[in-house]
Amino acid sequence: ALKTTQEQASGPVLQEQLILGFSQIGAESAWRNCNTRSIREAADDAGIQLLFENAEQKQENQIKAIRSFIAYQVDVIAFVPIVSNGWDNVLREAKDAGIPVLVTDRKIETEDYTLFAGFIGTDSEQEGREAALFLRGAWEKKNAARPMKIVEISGTEGSSAANGRARGFREELGDDSGFQIVYTRSGDFLRSKGYEIMRSILESGVAFDAVFSHNDGMTLGILEAMKEKGLKPGRDNIIVTIDAEQAAIDALVAGEVNCVIECNPKTGPIIMDLARKLAKGEKIPPLIHVEEAVFKEGDPGLELLPPRGY
Ligand code: AHR
Repeated sequence: ALKTTQEQASGPVLQEQLILGFSQIGAESAWRNCNTRSIREAADDAGIQLLFENAEQKQENQIKAIRSFIAYQVDVIAFVPIVSNGWDNVLREAKDAGIPVLVTDRKIETEDYTLFAGFIGTDSEQEGREAALFLRGAWEKKNAARPMKIVEISGTEGSSAANGRARGFREELGDDSGFQIVYTRSGDFLRSKGYEIMRSILESGVAFDAVFSHNDGMTLGILEAMKEKGLKPGRDNIIVTIDAEQAAIDALVAGEVNCVIECNPKTGPIIMDLARKLAKGEKIPPLIHVEEAVFKEGDPGLELLPPRGY
């Protein structure tokens, strides 16, 4: 399905333009918008024709988009699965049509791992472990004589990002009785829900020492709700968040957040590289995790970090 797009004076030259169908989940966060920008820019730079569909947070829209890419006979399909389960049928259709599929950012669960070529994205379990490690260290520093009470505001239910972060977090804490998750609720990765949930926590009088928020968007809403009630987040309570968007780094520098774990959205160039390999029939690694940093209060040079771009 590679298309002929150019001719030169010396005669027709076959310049094959790869067509990539990409199903994005939506625009729920600054992180997501950066991810979309990275993909669009990288496709432009690589001379790849991008058919881009925004699923507006609905799995059914993603399945429709993937079916339309199959009908169009694109060379490669890539998608961010909003949730982990429910992809086998449509992936089998892509396989039957001979179109390789790349899964990115969030992982899938399937009965048949040959249905897609590979995964490139974030290591959610590791992000959750980093959050727990930070809280453990912070509590040890305080020499507290009682268990830490933790509020967890998680991401989209059924997504590998939320499940992985929750799993890694719990794995790292193990059965240590020094840490108690006293409240957990999904804020769907949305700032508005982070705000609403924290308001209702504060109104209902749940006592907590720390917040583990699965993304910065929700964290910004959480900080707003806490400040409205006269609390000093980062001082009265320990705040750990994931993504490392600029606003979260600014909040870390301002002392309102204590730890920011990076989730790297700038995967466009690697995706284009993998798409090229797949279009040529080459094999790609089944699992690629992107590099991610952890930023903590007191780290030297935090205020000198280059702009995050999201
Ligand atoms: O799947 C990655 C998560 O989705 C990011 O942490 C979040 O901000 C996004 O919307």
